[in-house]
Order: sequence, then structure tokens, then C-alpha cells
Amino acid sequence: MAFSSEEQTSEDYLFKIVLVGDSAVGKSNLLARFARDEFYPSSKSTIGVEFQTQKIAIEGREIKAQIWDTAGQERFRAVTSAYYRGAVGALLVYDISSRQTFDSIGRWLHELHTHSDMNVVTILVGNKSDLREAREVPTAEGKALAETQGLFFIETSALDSSNVALAFQTVVKEIYNILSRKVMQSGELKKNDSSSLGDGRTVVLQGEETSDVDQPEKKGCSC
Ligand code: GTP
Ligand code: MG
Repeated sequence: MAFSSEEQTSEDYLFKIVLVGDSAVGKSNLLARFARDEFYPSSKSTIGVEFQTQKIAIEGREIKAQIWDTAGQERFRAVTSAYYRGAVGALLVYDISSRQTFDSIGRWLHELHTHSDMNVVTILVGNKSDLREAREVPTAEGKALAETQGLFFIETSALDSSNVALAFQTVVKEIYNILSRKVMQSGELKKNDSSSLGDGRTVVLQGEETSDVDQPEKKGCSC
């Protein structure tokens, strides 16, 4: 059944977004800060998979972001393919005070691309920007990697909250923009057709200017 734009509700927009990155980079705390405005100074490693649904307002419309969080540590991870299935957005997280976690990004990107669509809207996130004295990865290096890989880029701190909401909003807004263009092209939107959950729908990386966020190079549309 087709819904006209007047009949659409927030239920029409549900985006699955995954958090990916090494253990202890702060994935769970980014989610806790964003969803509940909480921070855990000594949080335990995530075991298995957790997800939270958060409402985000984009252009006056309420969108639900279903944000999935799992362990960075191999032994605590749940079935990988199920974690990535249907994801339309991803936060690829490293810790700016740990070179090792930045070096792992290539591996995480490979895993993301192996288990989900190549065009999942992805932002590279350098977390723990509050740890200025302990920084091991310069901002320019993060930016450069994001540029090479066609990703958005941002530095965040789950501890002092800086840029946390912006990181999630950037991904959600970009997915929304892509979807809006598709809807305009197709002329109508079927209810829940937008969720992309489970249907492996292709999205492309394109963006508008947003402060503090580095935009990826525009890529061709495969939709
Ligand atoms: P796994 O679940 O094992 O994959 O780890 P994770 O990526 O979910 O890390 P988690 O959120 O549990 O954070 C690990 C540690 O880093 C915790 O002690 C947090 O308090 C700390 N931490 C997280 N984010 C920040 C941050 O922005 N700044 C600082 N200084 N510490 C942080
Ligand atoms: Mg965790």
C-alpha cells in the first residue's frame, strides 16, 4: 500500500546503524552519551550485541535510528553477518590516543564491506578527543584516511560530549538525503520501504557542508 507524504509518520523511517571498531575505543559510551546522555568512566567490554533506538529530527521529520553496538574483541562478538545485515549507516571508531586502534580501521572497513553494502554511509570517528596530552593520531591523519576511503570524518569525545550527536546526525541526515532523492525519483514511497532493514538497499555517499564534519568525495550513484 502506497502512502502519500501527508500520511507518512516517523515509523516510515528506521535506519539501522552499526558501531564498529577495536575494543575500548568508546563505542558503547558514544551510544550511551547520544541515547541517554550518560558516560561510564569504567565501562566493561560489551558482550554480544545491544541496540538502542533513538529519534532524530531531520528537516522537521522524526527519524528512528536503530543503533547497534557489539564487542570489538573477537571472543565477545556475536554472529558477524547478522550484525551488519541491513545496515545503512556505520560509525567506524578509533581512539585518538591509541595508534593501534587507528591501524585497525582498514580491517574494520574490510569487514564492513564484506558483510554489508559497499555504499553504507560511513563516518570515521576519532573518539576521546579530550585526551589531548595522550594523542597518538593527528587529526590530519584521520582526515586523510577518510578522504582516501570516501568517508565522512569527525573527532568526538563521549566524555565531554563534543560532536557526539553530530556524528550520528551526519550519518542519519545523509541516509535521509539519499532516500529523499530516491523517493523523488521513484515518485512514491511505500510504507517501511525506506528502512532498508534486511533488503540490502544501496545508498551512496554524498553530502552537504556541515561544520566539524569532513565530507567524503562525491561518488557515483549506483541506485
Ligand atoms: P568494547 O565493548 O570492548 O568493544 O569497547 P567499547 O568500544 O564499547 O569501549 P567503551 O565504551 O566500553 O569504553 C572503553 C573505555 O574508554 C571506558 O573506560 C570509557 O570510560 C572510556 N572512554 C570512552 N569514551 C571516552 C572518551 O571520549 N574519552 C575518554 N577519556 N574516555 C573514554
Ligand atoms: Mg562496548
